[in-house]
Amino acid sequence: MEPARVHITTYGCQMNQLDSELVAQVLRSAGAHLVADPRAADVLLFVTCAVRAHAENRVFSNIGKLAARKRREPHLVVGLLGCMAQEHGPAVRRRAPLVDLVCAPGRLADLPDLIAQARGRLGDAEALDPGRDGSGAAAFAASDAALDEAEVRRPLCGSSPGQAYVVAIRGCDNFCSYCVVPYVRGPERSRAPSAILEEVRRLVGQGARQITLLGQAVNKYAAQEGGRRWDLADLLHRIAETPGLARLAFITNHPGAFDERLARVFRDVPGVCPYLHMPAQSGSDAVLERMNRGYTHGQYLDRVAMARAVRPDHAVASDFIVGFPGETEAEFEATCDLVRRARFSGAFVFKYSPRPGTLAAREYPDDVPDAEKRRRNNALLALVEEITAEENKKFVGRTVRVFVEEISPRGRQGEALDSRRSAEPGTRSAELTATGSVLRSAFRVPRSEFPLRGRTPCNRIVVFDGPPSLVGTEVDVRVVDSTPLTLFAVLPESRER
Ligand code: 5AD
Ligand code: SF4
Repeated sequence: MEPARVHITTYGCQMNQLDSELVAQVLRSAGAHLVADPRAADVLLFVTCAVRAHAENRVFSNIGKLAARKRREPHLVVGLLGCMAQEHGPAVRRRAPLVDLVCAPGRLADLPDLIAQARGRLGDAEALDPGRDGSGAAAFAASDAALDEAEVRRPLCGSSPGQAYVVAIRGCDNFCSYCVVPYVRGPERSRAPSAILEEVRRLVGQGARQITLLGQAVNKYAAQEGGRRWDLADLLHRIAETPGLARLAFITNHPGAFDERLARVFRDVPGVCPYLHMPAQSGSDAVLERMNRGYTHGQYLDRVAMARAVRPDHAVASDFIVGFPGETEAEFEATCDLVRRARFSGAFVFKYSPRPGTLAAREYPDDVPDAEKRRRNNALLALVEEITAEENKKFVGRTVRVFVEEISPRGRQGEALDSRRSAEPGTRSAELTATGSVLRSAFRVPRSEFPLRGRTPCNRIVVFDGPPSLVGTEVDVRVVDSTPLTLFAVLPESRER
């Protein structure tokens, strides 16, 4: 059989982006060709997110759109990968009959076999993770080892030169009452420090300058190796010694596990970014209790203060869920109050979405009407943006160091418009490529200059015009304007252009 021509579409969080890179690595090693254009593919893979119904509906709708093509090309293979695959299992075919292949997040290393099976129409191509009621983390040991190998061997991803994600913890044991992740990504498993360090060395050797460690609650990292225990602070100290590494970040942090020891890392470990993504989810103690978050709003604010005590410029970002079952107006106001007090550098706001199998879906009626959820969502976003606008304004006139991530896919005007909208993490093709000529004509910028997009150490987005050779490097720029989500800057006059 001809080698498969595979296209990957990614939905959801950074963990999914990294999963797509692993899929690409596993398939390349097995001889498949990865293609950027879905029309040129005979295998279409969807790496999916199950956190909210909205995300799932979008995947189902996009798969449904393939019906006509599948009639024309009966050999086309459609694969559902990641969190939705584990959540729905084989039953997904009732909702999406076009799906030929189902593969859980822990079983991505099995994909070459699954694709061969699906292309040969040799029965059901399915690989699922063991359920939570099985033998716990041990049941994942073999599949985790295969994923580790793919992760360590993968090349630096071409779509984001200079920047790489590295898994620190797989799975989650927190069981927040609304969340499906502990069920679809399995029990919490910290990777061996030696595997993480080797991967970082390899990526930096290939040109990565910025490493972001990933975990659903990355600050719960706990490993045993070389006769000692390792926590996240130990790991960050060691990673930071890697020659050539400029920036080190870690997401997402659980407030319950944030302590003085980790706070000191922000001061003591060079290269660790003064950016703390630590979702509060709500500012009401009663709602936090129903969410099973394990802290009060006061404890949350204490931890923010702890982070800012070591670095006053600390940017703290959060996630919030509005319209959680039983959320009263007063409870919503408590969230607004927390936002005012914490002065976040950014926040994602989500409307509560009941997820099958979770405690909240079982025990608490989804009783906040959708119109009210929408109102609270907009009101909270407006408040967040009011604060981020004020904070961002303070940067105007200052010089900031930017890690340049990419040529802006939206252009300068698009960035200005976009920064006034709420930013829900969107989809991104894993094989995202954009040719210079297309961008140049689309944005009408001089041949040598492009709108570039990067981030400050505190993770604020910066847009400025400059040569594309700056992508993947750090550069000092002067901020001249700001919006709630973006700083606009210029390269210093003196710089050779
Ligand atoms: N409904 C709405 N938002 C949710 N999140 C997680 N589960 C749900 C849900 N059932 C949000 C949380 C989390 C982010 C990744 O998604 O805010 O931090
Ligand atoms: Fe979900 Fe809570 Fe785990 Fe985050 S910490 S993935 S919200 S269960």
